Amino acid sequence: MSTGSTDARRVTTHTLQEMKAAGVPIAMLTAYDYSLARLVDSAGIDVILVGDSASNVMAGHETTLPITLDQMIYHASAVVRGCQRALIVVDLPFGTYQGNSKGALNSAIRIMKESGAHAVKLEGGREVIGSVERILTAGIPVMGHLGLTPQSIYKFGTYVVRAKEEAEAARLREDAKLLEEAGCFALVLEKIPATLAAEVARSVSIPIIGIGAGGGVDGQVLVLHDMLGINKEFNPRFLRRYADLHTVVSDAVAGYVRDVRAKDFPSPKEQY
Ligand code: KIV
Repeated sequence: MSTGSTDARRVTTHTLQEMKAAGVPIAMLTAYDYSLARLVDSAGIDVILVGDSASNVMAGHETTLPITLDQMIYHASAVVRGCQRALIVVDLPFGTYQGNSKGALNSAIRIMKESGAHAVKLEGGREVIGSVERILTAGIPVMGHLGLTPQSIYKFGTYVVRAKEEAEAARLREDAKLLEEAGCFALVLEKIPATLAAEVARSVSIPIIGIGAGGGVDGQVLVLHDMLGINKEFNPRFLRRYADLHTVVSDAVAGYVRDVRAKDFPSPKEQY
Protein backbone atom coordinates (compact mmCIF):
# COMPACT_ATOMS: atom_id res chain seq x y z
CA MET A 1 0.00 0.00 0.00
CA SER A 2 1.37 3.41 -0.88
CA THR A 3 1.21 5.92 1.96
CA GLY A 4 2.52 8.92 0.10
CA SER A 5 5.66 9.87 -1.77
CA THR A 6 7.48 11.43 1.19
CA ASP A 7 7.01 8.55 3.62
CA ALA A 8 10.08 6.58 2.55
CA ARG A 9 12.30 9.47 3.64
CA ARG A 10 10.51 10.08 6.92
CA VAL A 11 12.55 9.59 10.07
CA THR A 12 10.74 7.31 12.51
CA THR A 13 11.39 6.06 16.01
CA HIS A 14 12.77 2.90 14.33
CA THR A 15 15.21 5.00 12.30
CA LEU A 16 16.57 6.46 15.54
CA GLN A 17 16.95 2.99 17.01
CA GLU A 18 18.86 1.91 13.90
CA MET A 19 21.05 5.01 14.09
CA LYS A 20 21.99 4.18 17.69
CA ALA A 21 22.78 0.57 16.70
CA ALA A 22 24.93 1.77 13.80
CA GLY A 23 26.66 4.45 15.89
CA VAL A 24 25.31 7.30 13.72
CA PRO A 25 24.75 10.41 15.88
CA ILE A 26 21.21 11.84 15.88
CA ALA A 27 20.78 15.59 15.24
CA MET A 28 17.79 17.22 16.91
CA LEU A 29 16.76 20.89 17.13
CA THR A 30 13.72 22.73 18.37
CA ALA A 31 11.35 24.64 16.10
CA TYR A 32 8.07 26.36 16.79
CA ASP A 33 6.81 27.81 13.50
CA TYR A 34 6.24 26.87 9.86
CA SER A 35 8.97 28.93 8.18
CA LEU A 36 11.91 27.94 10.38
CA ALA A 37 10.72 24.33 10.70
CA ARG A 38 10.71 24.14 6.89
CA LEU A 39 14.31 25.40 6.74
CA VAL A 40 15.47 23.11 9.53
CA ASP A 41 13.78 20.10 7.97
CA SER A 42 15.15 20.70 4.50
CA ALA A 43 18.67 21.18 5.93
CA GLY A 44 18.61 17.55 7.07
CA ILE A 45 17.71 17.48 10.76
CA ASP A 46 16.58 14.08 12.08
CA VAL A 47 14.24 15.16 14.87
CA ILE A 48 12.40 18.43 15.47
CA LEU A 49 11.30 19.09 19.02
CA VAL A 50 8.41 21.49 19.44
CA GLY A 51 9.75 22.27 22.88
CA ASP A 52 7.94 24.02 25.67
CA SER A 53 10.97 26.34 25.45
CA ALA A 54 8.50 28.11 23.12
CA SER A 55 7.31 29.62 26.40
CA ASN A 56 10.70 31.38 26.67
CA VAL A 57 11.81 32.05 23.13
CA MET A 58 8.46 32.63 21.42
CA ALA A 59 6.37 34.12 24.22
CA GLY A 60 9.02 35.79 26.40
CA HIS A 61 8.11 34.04 29.66
CA GLU A 62 10.82 33.53 32.24
CA THR A 63 10.07 29.79 32.60
CA THR A 64 8.42 27.01 30.60
CA LEU A 65 5.54 26.73 33.06
CA PRO A 66 2.99 29.16 31.58
CA ILE A 67 2.65 27.66 28.09
CA THR A 68 -0.68 25.88 27.54
CA LEU A 69 -1.66 22.73 25.68
CA ASP A 70 -3.58 24.80 23.11
CA GLN A 71 -0.50 26.95 22.49
CA MET A 72 1.72 23.87 22.09
CA ILE A 73 -0.77 22.42 19.60
CA TYR A 74 -0.75 25.71 17.67
CA HIS A 75 3.06 25.67 17.41
CA ALA A 76 3.17 21.94 16.61
CA SER A 77 0.59 22.22 13.80
CA ALA A 78 2.64 24.95 12.14
CA VAL A 79 5.82 22.86 12.41
CA VAL A 80 4.09 19.78 10.99
CA ARG A 81 2.96 21.81 7.94
CA GLY A 82 6.59 22.80 7.30
CA CYS A 83 8.19 19.35 7.50
CA GLN A 84 8.54 16.39 5.18
CA ARG A 85 11.37 14.36 6.68
CA ALA A 86 12.00 14.95 10.39
CA LEU A 87 10.37 13.06 13.22
CA ILE A 88 8.31 15.66 15.09
CA VAL A 89 8.17 15.38 18.88
CA VAL A 90 6.03 17.73 20.98
CA ASP A 91 6.51 18.59 24.64
CA LEU A 92 3.59 17.94 26.95
CA PRO A 93 3.41 21.24 28.82
CA PHE A 94 3.49 21.64 32.59
CA GLY A 95 0.29 20.55 34.30
CA THR A 96 -1.00 18.34 31.50
CA TYR A 97 0.46 14.96 32.56
CA GLN A 98 1.85 15.01 36.10
CA GLY A 99 -0.05 13.06 38.75
CA ASN A 100 -2.86 12.11 36.42
CA SER A 101 -2.28 9.39 33.84
CA LYS A 102 -5.77 9.74 32.32
CA GLY A 103 -5.17 13.47 31.87
CA ALA A 104 -1.78 12.66 30.37
CA LEU A 105 -3.34 10.32 27.82
CA ASN A 106 -5.96 12.92 26.89
CA SER A 107 -3.28 15.61 26.48
CA ALA A 108 -1.13 13.34 24.29
CA ILE A 109 -4.12 12.33 22.15
CA ARG A 110 -5.02 16.00 21.61
CA ILE A 111 -1.46 16.76 20.48
CA MET A 112 -1.39 13.84 18.04
CA LYS A 113 -4.91 14.39 16.65
CA GLU A 114 -4.88 18.19 16.39
CA SER A 115 -1.27 18.80 15.29
CA GLY A 116 -0.35 15.72 13.28
CA ALA A 117 2.94 15.31 15.20
CA HIS A 118 4.55 11.89 15.66
CA ALA A 119 5.46 11.63 19.35
CA VAL A 120 5.32 13.42 22.69
CA LYS A 121 7.98 14.21 25.28
CA LEU A 122 7.55 14.59 29.01
CA GLU A 123 9.84 15.37 31.93
CA GLY A 124 10.57 13.18 34.93
CA GLY A 125 11.35 9.62 36.01
CA ARG A 126 9.55 7.25 38.37
CA GLU A 127 6.95 9.88 39.29
CA VAL A 128 5.59 9.98 35.71
CA ILE A 129 5.88 6.27 34.80
CA GLY A 130 2.09 5.85 35.15
CA SER A 131 1.55 8.63 32.61
CA VAL A 132 4.17 7.19 30.22
CA GLU A 133 2.56 3.73 30.33
CA ARG A 134 -0.95 5.08 29.82
CA ILE A 135 0.06 7.24 26.84
CA LEU A 136 1.79 4.21 25.30
CA THR A 137 -1.47 2.21 25.50
CA ALA A 138 -2.79 4.49 22.74
CA GLY A 139 0.20 3.72 20.52
CA ILE A 140 1.71 7.18 21.02
CA PRO A 141 5.54 7.13 21.14
CA VAL A 142 6.97 8.82 24.25
CA MET A 143 10.37 10.48 24.69
CA GLY A 144 11.56 10.92 28.29
CA HIS A 145 13.60 13.80 29.73
CA LEU A 146 15.85 13.57 32.81
CA GLY A 147 18.54 15.67 34.46
CA LEU A 148 17.73 19.35 34.42
CA THR A 149 13.99 19.34 33.81
CA PRO A 150 12.94 22.98 33.41
CA GLN A 151 9.31 22.36 34.43
CA SER A 152 10.68 21.63 37.94
CA ILE A 153 12.72 24.82 38.16
CA TYR A 154 10.96 25.96 41.33
CA LYS A 155 11.88 22.66 43.00
CA PHE A 156 15.55 22.91 41.87
CA GLY A 157 15.73 26.68 42.51
CA THR A 158 18.50 27.08 39.88
CA TYR A 159 19.53 25.98 36.36
CA VAL A 160 22.92 24.56 37.49
CA VAL A 161 24.26 21.15 36.39
CA ARG A 162 22.23 18.25 37.87
CA ALA A 163 23.28 14.84 39.22
CA LYS A 164 26.81 15.81 40.27
CA GLU A 165 26.26 14.09 43.61
CA GLU A 166 26.14 10.29 43.67
CA ALA A 167 22.65 10.06 45.20
CA GLU A 168 21.08 12.08 42.38
CA ALA A 169 23.20 10.28 39.76
CA ALA A 170 22.05 6.89 41.09
CA ARG A 171 18.41 8.00 40.95
CA LEU A 172 18.91 9.22 37.37
CA ARG A 173 20.44 5.88 36.29
CA GLU A 174 17.45 4.05 37.78
CA ASP A 175 14.95 6.43 36.21
CA ALA A 176 16.54 5.98 32.78
CA LYS A 177 16.13 2.20 33.13
CA LEU A 178 12.53 2.59 34.30
CA LEU A 179 11.66 4.81 31.34
CA GLU A 180 13.30 2.37 28.95
CA GLU A 181 11.38 -0.57 30.49
CA ALA A 182 8.12 1.42 30.39
CA GLY A 183 8.60 1.75 26.62
CA CYS A 184 10.04 5.22 25.92
CA PHE A 185 11.66 5.28 22.46
CA ALA A 186 14.38 7.78 23.46
CA LEU A 187 15.48 10.00 26.34
CA VAL A 188 16.76 13.55 26.57
CA LEU A 189 19.43 14.08 29.24
CA GLU A 190 19.87 17.76 30.06
CA LYS A 191 22.84 19.40 31.78
CA ILE A 192 24.43 16.50 33.63
CA PRO A 193 28.09 15.38 33.81
CA ALA A 194 29.33 13.93 30.50
CA THR A 195 30.63 10.74 32.16
CA LEU A 196 27.21 9.99 33.70
CA ALA A 197 25.41 10.67 30.41
CA ALA A 198 27.79 8.38 28.51
CA GLU A 199 27.31 5.66 31.10
CA VAL A 200 23.50 5.90 30.76
CA ALA A 201 23.78 5.82 26.95
CA ARG A 202 25.79 2.60 27.19
CA SER A 203 23.44 1.01 29.71
CA VAL A 204 20.16 1.41 27.80
CA SER A 205 19.20 0.21 24.34
CA ILE A 206 17.19 3.35 23.42
CA PRO A 207 18.82 6.49 21.98
CA ILE A 208 20.01 9.11 24.47
CA ILE A 209 19.91 12.68 23.17
CA GLY A 210 21.98 15.13 25.18
CA ILE A 211 21.90 18.86 25.80
CA GLY A 212 24.81 19.91 27.96
CA ALA A 213 25.50 16.20 28.51
CA GLY A 214 28.73 15.76 26.55
CA GLY A 215 29.68 13.80 23.46
CA GLY A 216 29.29 10.25 24.73
CA VAL A 217 25.58 10.03 24.01
CA ASP A 218 23.66 9.01 20.87
CA GLY A 219 22.63 12.45 19.68
CA GLN A 220 22.48 16.15 20.46
CA VAL A 221 19.70 18.71 20.79
CA LEU A 222 19.88 22.51 21.01
CA VAL A 223 17.27 25.23 21.13
CA LEU A 224 17.15 26.68 17.60
CA HIS A 225 17.09 30.33 18.67
CA ASP A 226 20.15 29.79 20.87
CA MET A 227 22.28 28.04 18.22
CA LEU A 228 21.30 30.63 15.61
CA GLY A 229 22.51 33.40 17.93
CA ILE A 230 19.19 35.24 18.02
CA ASN A 231 19.50 35.42 21.74
CA LYS A 232 22.73 37.07 22.98
CA GLU A 233 22.07 36.91 26.70
CA PHE A 234 21.99 33.11 27.10
CA ASN A 235 25.57 31.80 27.26
CA PRO A 236 25.82 28.37 28.88
CA ARG A 237 29.07 26.44 28.35
CA PHE A 238 27.32 23.76 26.28
CA LEU A 239 25.96 26.18 23.67
CA ARG A 240 27.74 26.42 20.32
CA ARG A 241 26.48 29.29 18.16
CA TYR A 242 26.35 28.42 14.45
CA ALA A 243 25.23 31.88 13.34
CA ASP A 244 24.91 35.43 14.62
CA LEU A 245 21.34 36.20 13.62
CA HIS A 246 21.16 38.87 16.30
CA THR A 247 23.61 40.97 14.29
CA VAL A 248 22.20 39.93 10.89
CA VAL A 249 18.62 40.86 11.83
CA SER A 250 19.55 44.04 13.74
CA ASP A 251 21.66 45.27 10.80
CA ALA A 252 18.92 44.43 8.28
CA VAL A 253 16.22 46.25 10.27
CA ALA A 254 18.46 49.27 10.89
CA GLY A 255 19.24 49.39 7.16
CA TYR A 256 15.54 49.28 6.28
CA VAL A 257 14.71 52.08 8.75
CA ARG A 258 17.57 54.16 7.28
CA ASP A 259 16.37 53.62 3.71
CA VAL A 260 12.72 54.42 4.54
CA ARG A 261 13.70 57.64 6.37
CA ALA A 262 15.97 58.65 3.45
CA LYS A 263 13.18 57.89 0.94
CA ASP A 264 15.66 55.53 -0.70
CA PHE A 265 13.18 52.66 -0.42
CA PRO A 266 11.27 51.92 -2.57
CA SER A 267 13.30 52.85 -5.64
CA PRO A 268 11.62 53.34 -9.04
CA LYS A 269 12.46 49.67 -9.82
CA GLU A 270 10.63 48.53 -6.68
CA GLN A 271 7.26 50.00 -7.53
CA TYR A 272 4.42 49.46 -10.08
O1 KIV B 1 11.78 22.57 25.50
C1 KIV B 1 12.91 22.33 25.05
O2 KIV B 1 13.46 23.06 24.21
C2 KIV B 1 13.60 21.15 25.51
C3 KIV B 1 15.03 20.95 25.07
C4 KIV B 1 15.92 21.84 25.84
C5 KIV B 1 15.45 19.54 25.17
O3 KIV B 1 13.05 20.37 26.24
